[in-house]
Amino acid sequence: MANKEFEIIVFGATSFVGKIVCNYLVHEHREPNLRWAMAARSEVKLRKLKASLGQASVQIPLLVVDAGDESALRAMCERTAVIVSTVGPYALYGELLVRSCVSTGTDYCDLTGEPQWIRRMIHRYHAEAVVGGARIVHCCGFDSIPSDLGVKYLQQQAMQQFGSYCSEVKMRVKNLKGGASGGTIASMLNLYDEMDRDHAVREQMTDIFSLCPADFQKRTPQQEIKVLYDKDFGSWAGPFVMAAINTRVVLRSNALRLHSDEQHFSYDEGTLTGLGRKGEKRARRLARGTGLLMRALSITLLRGFIKRFVVPKPGTGPSPEAQLTGCYDLRFFGRTAAGQEISVQVTDDRDPGYGATARILAQSALCLCREVDKEQIKGGFWTPATVFGDAMFARLRNFTGMRFNVQKITPEPAVSPPIVSADRP
Ligand SMILES: NC(=O)c1ccc[n+]([C@@H]2O[C@H](COP(=O)([O-])OP(=O)(O)OC[C@H]3O[C@@H](n4cnc5c(N)ncnc54)[C@H](OP(=O)(O)O)[C@@H]3O)[C@@H](O)[C@H]2O)c1
Repeated sequence: MANKEFEIIVFGATSFVGKIVCNYLVHEHREPNLRWAMAARSEVKLRKLKASLGQASVQIPLLVVDAGDESALRAMCERTAVIVSTVGPYALYGELLVRSCVSTGTDYCDLTGEPQWIRRMIHRYHAEAVVGGARIVHCCGFDSIPSDLGVKYLQQQAMQQFGSYCSEVKMRVKNLKGGASGGTIASMLNLYDEMDRDHAVREQMTDIFSLCPADFQKRTPQQEIKVLYDKDFGSWAGPFVMAAINTRVVLRSNALRLHSDEQHFSYDEGTLTGLGRKGEKRARRLARGTGLLMRALSITLLRGFIKRFVVPKPGTGPSPEAQLTGCYDLRFFGRTAAGQEISVQVTDDRDPGYGATARILAQSALCLCREVDKEQIKGGFWTPATVFGDAMFARLRNFTGMRFNVQKITPEPAVSPPIVSADRP
């Protein structure tokens, strides 16, 4: 890294979320002595962004690079230790950059939540990344860092308290306030376009283990939540829209971890809807709404209409005020094979997809660059939970609004425990 001109290049700096990332790095989190640059395809937009960031950004170099120009992408990769990309939909614009990172041994992180594309990238480039040393880390935003690191944190606490990992883990959304940008919706719509065109993609979307290594054997049956009364949470639950990506990432993390061979592991995600008849009705409404949306998106004509007239356009998204007033509160429950139980809470105080995601992504890039040792974590396609260690928890605690807390341990430990500790993993 010492011989690279930059430590980080933010590619897609002019995207909706890229601008928030740059603003965060310029005004909110000034990493000491950071050498970084902003890159995008449009020089005009880059200059406008720089002007909007004010005096504090005058020293930050601008690079004009198009995601379709492989030689320019390679040249950009040669100049930096880490590329952080917000150029999406990734399935449309992301592959040449991943290929360039892999072929130049450049570390990479992004915000994709597109399982079909991640699978393609792993399939095509993992072997080369292992040889060349590039660490590729997808899903470093709201999907799927809170889920993946939430499970990691829960398992660390379980091991500390019980001497074993949980074989059953659930995540339930207790509260979530936030919106969606045009870029996020465009990525979702593109997935449906791909499923229309390619039967194999449709098949993959029915395989919850689609991101696990091909030789991964321990395929414990997994449940997809529609409507259920969940005794462990004392509440009804309905589906959670990001479960499709998060569960796949968590299962890949489990498959890549050393202890995966020793245990069966199940993981699911849902949304808590409350108690009694009201809670049940809400869960059913949520399941119906989610089902209807998916059916509507799978009809080509209707999708075209939604694209044109209903959804926000790329480049637009929640207002700065909405980003600041948004939040999320996720609850995790884990049970060991011996029946010990642990509950964990993961929260953030900004809008999940943008205010929170931008900070998490920036810290992922900084951590990858400065704290993930190349000798310990070698090249390949990692997940957040398998690439990041305690330094990332410390970064999230110190420089973002994310909090990880143990809420309950059963049976209670004999010696007075740090039951509500636990910013520190
Ligand atoms: N994981 C999460 O929690 C999470 C949260 C938010 C967003 N996301 C994902 O992040 C991505 C970005 O979202 P967004 O709302 O910021 O999207 P956006 O505003 O639509 O931005 C897309 C960016 O891609 C750039 N781009 C398109 N074609 C390009 C090319 N050929 N060369 C270089 N750049 C090109 C655009 O450049 P111009 O600026 O020049 O138009 C734009 O900056 C999406 O894929 C979204 O799904 C994920």
